[in-house]
Amino acid sequence: MTAGPAIQVRGLEKSYPKLPVLRGVDFEVAPGHIFALLGSNGAGKTTVVKILSTLLKADAGTASVAGFDVAAHPARVRESISLTGQFAAVDEILSGRENLVLIARLRHQKQPGRIAADLLTRFSLTEAADRKVATYSGGMRRRLDIAMSLIGNPPVIFLDEPTTGLDPEARLEVWDAVKSLAARGTTVLLTTQYLEEAEQLADRIAILHQGRIIVNGTLTELKALLPPAEVEYVEKQPSLEDVFFAIVGARESP
Ligand SMILES: Nc1ncnc2c1ncn2[C@@H]1O[C@H](COP(=O)(O)OP(=O)(O)O)[C@@H](O)[C@H]1O
Ligand SMILES: [Mg+2]
Repeated sequence: MTAGPAIQVRGLEKSYPKLPVLRGVDFEVAPGHIFALLGSNGAGKTTVVKILSTLLKADAGTASVAGFDVAAHPARVRESISLTGQFAAVDEILSGRENLVLIARLRHQKQPGRIAADLLTRFSLTEAADRKVATYSGGMRRRLDIAMSLIGNPPVIFLDEPTTGLDPEARLEVWDAVKSLAARGTTVLLTTQYLEEAEQLADRIAILHQGRIIVNGTLTELKALLPPAEVEYVEKQPSLEDVFFAIVGARESP
């Protein structure tokens, strides 16, 4: 990968028939960072991810991933990424280990068995490795899904709403898995509707609202957008949720 940003997006626009979704989206993600694209349902998060993963063409603007322009070099982009969608893509009939070995073979890896064993350890799935995925909990499935997406060591991974539909415990398990990705230098772009998820995981958070990024910063920077915490008996810092509603609310009022 080049020394520049792992992901660079400039002036991205996309409309579906009669529905403008992205109206000029700009952001960058530094290598090895976790970047959260936060937005309500229908904000256009999946549309951004689809453009960045070459599944959809933008109407205007440019985007590059791992140094490759998505429009000019889609094949190079696809070699550099993996994409995990909202619904786990694991095979229920196979065991966790078999799922991993299958994908490793499909991706022409030299030692599929070893890769599977390493990933099972990394994602704490060793005990369940030889059970059918049909018996796994939601969190285990999603962790397996993320593990599968890492085969071949893509430098950039897209996680589109990785914890939607999971219970709180499973969500914590997935958060740990995502943190461990970035700790190894993988660049992660994750989308979420959950403010707390962005707060827990992301180095930088961007809020996509009405087709544009309305705020982009670290959690500390975002919190600084609100007036300082009032000191009463106990100091209460504004949560990201306070910031989100303060900003979105402010934009929507006439
Ligand atoms: N293929 C499509 N055709 C028409 N409208 C679409 C299509 N895909 C998404 N949309 C609409 O575009 C908007 C943004 O969708 P999406 O990017 O999936 O949002 P998010 O992932 O933030 O929930 C939504 O209003 C959605 O209904
Ligand atoms: Mg979506």
